[in-house]
Amino acid sequence: MGTPAREGAPVTLTIDGFDITVPEGTSVMRAAAEAGFQIPKLCATDSLEAFGSCRLCVVEIEGRRGTPASCTTPVAPGMVVRTQSEKVKKIRKGVMELYISDHPLDCLTCAANGDCELQDMAGATGLRDVRYQAPADGGMSNHFEARQNGEANPQYVPKDDSNPYFTYDPSKCIVCNRCVRACEEVQGTFALTIAGRGFDSRVSAGTAADDFLSSDCVSCGACVQACPTATLQEKSVIELGTPERSVITTCAYCGVGCSFKAE
Ligand code: FES
Repeated sequence: MGTPAREGAPVTLTIDGFDITVPEGTSVMRAAAEAGFQIPKLCATDSLEAFGSCRLCVVEIEGRRGTPASCTTPVAPGMVVRTQSEKVKKIRKGVMELYISDHPLDCLTCAANGDCELQDMAGATGLRDVRYQAPADGGMSNHFEARQNGEANPQYVPKDDSNPYFTYDPSKCIVCNRCVRACEEVQGTFALTIAGRGFDSRVSAGTAADDFLSSDCVSCGACVQACPTATLQEKSVIELGTPERSVITTCAYCGVGCSFKAE
């Protein structure tokens, strides 16, 4: 949710008509959350450094051109922010439409159904229909037909089952980079990276085999915990379904003791 800042000088700004005072360096997204306004987001979390890639959290700021990402924009004295203007709502809905246009429509049979941030954000932005169709030249028609049938894009690399604890399904990846950042910031392992561009972009181990088993992954589970969709799924969840309750315990995968949220 943007980099937390708890020690800076107090800064007062206005968000959706309400004055709020937060420490200098706080992100607009975090300040809005403290004022009770939840701005839609996909790439930001409470624990990872802000990245600013999904563009779902855009806001309007008086006197500034464009619509900056609230997760990477620090507050400033006297700043006037609008988080719910028609302009930003339209942009967010358009962003979600693009995400969903490149995502399998198999929610009812997906292991993350009901516990999927992409699904939540589609609802939060009011997305009901996806307008984008396959081009006449058929360039993306295979992808489009597969998506309509709830299947994976045939252009994607196959599912990676190599890790004993979790699977990686590239067809569901929105390339938010949260797993890559969790691997770096939580575990300090640097086992993952993003490879490719556009429709071909995906999480990669960067090894010759390009799977999790051949990477430096230590199976800590930080990437699975960070994933907002069903791209990275614990094998137990796939086999047994989403649990009805959760407990906080020390992660059984490794000895770091990072209080991984086991379910
Ligand atoms: Fe701010 Fe993704 S949440 S750009």
